[in-house]
Amino acid sequence: MAVDLLLGLQWGDEGKGKIVDVLTKNYNIIARFQGGPNAGHTLEFDGIKHVLHTIPSGIFHEDAMNVVGNGVVIDPVIFKRELDNLKQFDLDLVKTLVISRKAHLILPTHRLLDAASEASKGKAKIGSTLKGIGPTYMDKTGRNGIRVGDTEMNNWQEKYRALANKHEAMISFYDVDIQYDLKELEAEFFDAVKVLKSLTFIDSEEYLYQAQKQGKKILAEGAQGSLLDIDFGTYPYVTSSNTTAAGACTGLGVAPGNIGEVFGIFKAYTTRVGSGPFPTELFDNDGETMGRVGNEFGATTGRPRRCGWLDLVALRYAVQINGVTQLMMMKGDVLSGFDTLKICTAYKYKGETIEHLPYNIEAENISPIYTEISGWKEDLTKMRSVDEFPTALNEYIDFLEKQLEVPIKIVSVGPDRTQTIHR
Ligand code: IMP
Repeated sequence: MAVDLLLGLQWGDEGKGKIVDVLTKNYNIIARFQGGPNAGHTLEFDGIKHVLHTIPSGIFHEDAMNVVGNGVVIDPVIFKRELDNLKQFDLDLVKTLVISRKAHLILPTHRLLDAASEASKGKAKIGSTLKGIGPTYMDKTGRNGIRVGDTEMNNWQEKYRALANKHEAMISFYDVDIQYDLKELEAEFFDAVKVLKSLTFIDSEEYLYQAQKQGKKILAEGAQGSLLDIDFGTYPYVTSSNTTAAGACTGLGVAPGNIGEVFGIFKAYTTRVGSGPFPTELFDNDGETMGRVGNEFGATTGRPRRCGWLDLVALRYAVQINGVTQLMMMKGDVLSGFDTLKICTAYKYKGETIEHLPYNIEAENISPIYTEISGWKEDLTKMRSVDEFPTALNEYIDFLEKQLEVPIKIVSVGPDRTQTIHR
């Protein structure tokens, strides 16, 4: 039985949480495979809006098992807060949420290191969410990290102390003023680890292997987006994990041949939060309108998101890298009201027109080439079927399908579960 993937194809915030929530009824298991509490997956249903950071988006469906995979990094303090926020829903989390022993832990000093590193960069800062993601993945690949399974060992507190001491020396190496009270942070951390330990730890690759053998349907839920991938994104303005399809194999232990459908999610326009190049970024009223109508503020940090037209060069690249088999277009409703919509189909690069993403997409190297297409005025948010779509929206969708050579199977016209139209 194949494992399906659900991935963001832009710079994150495409609406993965909503779509996982919508698709969960078709799956037995939802598994997160990378990233950590830098993610913010927003779900809306029955008038409730809920943001998840580390916990998979299948958690509100009683019948679904939720796996936090080995590729995820967990901050016990934020995890505890997420659990506290879920208390109002009366869910049996010991039964429906399991955590890989191989997932790495974000320590309080990882967060401090993130802050020190960003502060030291000045103008070149990444715009990190400052959740300790980069330093934790650095310790993972540097073979110094502490994993969830370590907390079951007798000597784990000594391991913790050795690593935290090393981090403190590293923090003092940066010539920046970071104020902190480690004793207080550690008290909070160890308290949160106790709560984490009340949940079920598993050998997740074995669990998922057996689940596949038993014919269980598994959906791997990505965090962030392809353009934030550590290898294929707009480096160094990226996150520290593989957000693309291959990340699901390493982040869950799923064999490449067992990947089935690859669902790729994109917004009908583009947003980016944090620093880094963004060829189709708008600095005018159109960009301001997208941000306002689309409520484009970070779910984790509350920062306003940068907005711009849809960039098909970047999107085509993401479709290729991931082997996307089905597309889902989010926030179509936000584009209602524009007389004309622009779609970037190529870049002007060193005097030439190119249709692929070059090594360097900084503004001084490239400028977007746009195709203009008529907009629509109708409010899409009340529509529940493609039959109600205005002609201009159908033309927009057809144009994208032709350019991307992959069908758009879902069009989302609002944040609620019910505002999801299948094609
Ligand atoms: P970090 O992963 O927190 O270090 O952040 C690195 C970059 O990825 C920054 O530009 C962040 O704004 C961006 N980023 C990280 N997580 C998300 C996300 O879930 N949505 C959008 N951007 C993100």
